[in-house]
Amino acid sequence: MESPFSLVGRNNIFAAFLLVFFPLAIAQSTLQATNNVPYRAAVYEHAVISAPPKVVSRTEAVANMMKNVRVYEEQTKIAAGKGAKIIVFPEDGILGLDLDRITVKSYLEEIPNPRFVNWNPSETPNVYNGTEIQRELSRIAKENHIYMVVNMGTKVTCTTKYDPSCPFDGQRQYNTNVVYSQNGMLVAVYKKRNLYIDLPFDPAPEPEYVTFDTPFGRFGTVICFDILFKEPTSVLLEKYKIRNLLYPTAMKNLKPFVNIIFESAVARAHSFNFLAANLHVVKRSMYGSGLYSPEGARAYVYNANPGESRLLIADMEAVNEEMPSTHSTIQPKIDPDSTINVTIIKGSVLGLQFLFRPLLGRQEVIKLCYGDFCCSLDYEIMHQTTERYALGVANGFIYIPGDNKLYVQACTLSKCYGENCLAEITSAKTIFERFNMAAHNFKTSKIYPSVVAMNESSYVLVDDEWTYNRMGEIHLDGPMSLPLYTAVLFGVSEHED
Ligand SMILES: *[C@@H]1O[C@H](CO)[C@@H](O)[C@H](O)[C@H]1NC(C)=O
Ligand SMILES: *[C@@H]1O[C@H](CO)[C@@H](O)[C@H](O)[C@H]1NC(C)=O
Ligand SMILES: *[C@@H]1O[C@H](CO)[C@@H](O)[C@H](O)[C@H]1NC(C)=O
Repeated sequence: MESPFSLVGRNNIFAAFLLVFFPLAIAQSTLQATNNVPYRAAVYEHAVISAPPKVVSRTEAVANMMKNVRVYEEQTKIAAGKGAKIIVFPEDGILGLDLDRITVKSYLEEIPNPRFVNWNPSETPNVYNGTEIQRELSRIAKENHIYMVVNMGTKVTCTTKYDPSCPFDGQRQYNTNVVYSQNGMLVAVYKKRNLYIDLPFDPAPEPEYVTFDTPFGRFGTVICFDILFKEPTSVLLEKYKIRNLLYPTAMKNLKPFVNIIFESAVARAHSFNFLAANLHVVKRSMYGSGLYSPEGARAYVYNANPGESRLLIADMEAVNEEMPSTHSTIQPKIDPDSTINVTIIKGSVLGLQFLFRPLLGRQEVIKLCYGDFCCSLDYEIMHQTTERYALGVANGFIYIPGDNKLYVQACTLSKCYGENCLAEITSAKTIFERFNMAAHNFKTSKIYPSVVAMNESSYVLVDDEWTYNRMGEIHLDGPMSLPLYTAVLFGVSEHED
């Protein structure tokens, strides 16, 4: 049985007290049709001030976290002043990246479940001890009259006597998104399910489908790596019909699937508003955030300058249509190109092998296969340059630390750096007149498309210059306004289906 208060398993008298004095919130996330309307939103890419990797007192822990909370307050004020109704902060934006299971302990707070308890931490702060951060966030949301989505660490005590899977140290520690309403009310708590080397944390014991309603529509939230998994993400989108997804993340850039490519592709593929707030930690290659609509990015940042946080604000359209089905990914099988007589370049990303077939002329129709997964490309370049571009194909597993893996199939059209077609590129000159890139025999059901150009040394999303037909085909009538960095079409699934 689920306790109404996740934190009070050990203190039933206290639970009874709360049950008497706090009205039960009406169970939310019913499945009826939503009525989303346009709204202005903000995301903050935060250069986190990481807590030091040592055991500290609760007082020191709170002081360390408050360094980030003070920045959140400033940015929230600015965003609200510009009319934003909701602001999203990144994963690990209060704790930083240097804590482990032991050193994080004094940073964690207990938190009630807002499905069962109405709690406004800034109005009735003394109901729960050790909730300094929650009180402060609630106050900031209330004072600025804005919804705040923040990631922090929470805990629940447990005992192996009643719970055989209780960790050795008697508590579960969760990577948690908390949401405060414009009145400072705690309206949502989501615990990360799919961990990615999250040393301090345990995964949520079961997937949670967390949604909440606002005057401007219904929202769902997940964290970082969760986005790639059926539970909770596909269920939220398909069953709960969420069309506004809030996404605190701390995601490394992984060529060719760098964050702005990945984020824009997810919003486009699933046709929802995707508010992605990443950490800004350049030495770990974490950066790239944005507000993405089904038609493309409304605002984004991809900036590798250390220490440069960024507040993004954009107007989001209402999305009420259901998620479009990805059409059969089984494309007519095409025969591997037997006439190829060019040197194939190899590369790999986290164990995923790529093959690259360099483009040879100003105009070609080519194909390249990896097993029975094939990519074809029909292109024309405006002016021949000495730059090397290649059609790439991948079909296999990405291996993730912690005994995890994901099945990935990908087609890319990318600029290479010499023999390296997965390298960082700092400039490009080649303008494509047109191209059509198609994937054949996708086995994954989630397929993500994106096209990125280069302006000087910056990556630029050119969302209105190409189309995606939901059948594994990117089409660009061209000519592009800027030189191409990469076009990517990739499928991801938890298993090789
Ligand atoms: C909070 O802590 C104080 C002092 O440690 C204690 O007296 C009080 O009972 C606690 N309150 C709750 C709600 O746990
Ligand atoms: C492929 O290239 C090699 C060496 O460049 C050449 O000898 C051979 O005839 C070529 N084969 C075809 C089918 O073009
Ligand atoms: C390219 O960057 C320059 C300088 O930042 C800017 O003025 C220009 O508008 C950009 N061009 C395009 C097409 O984005």
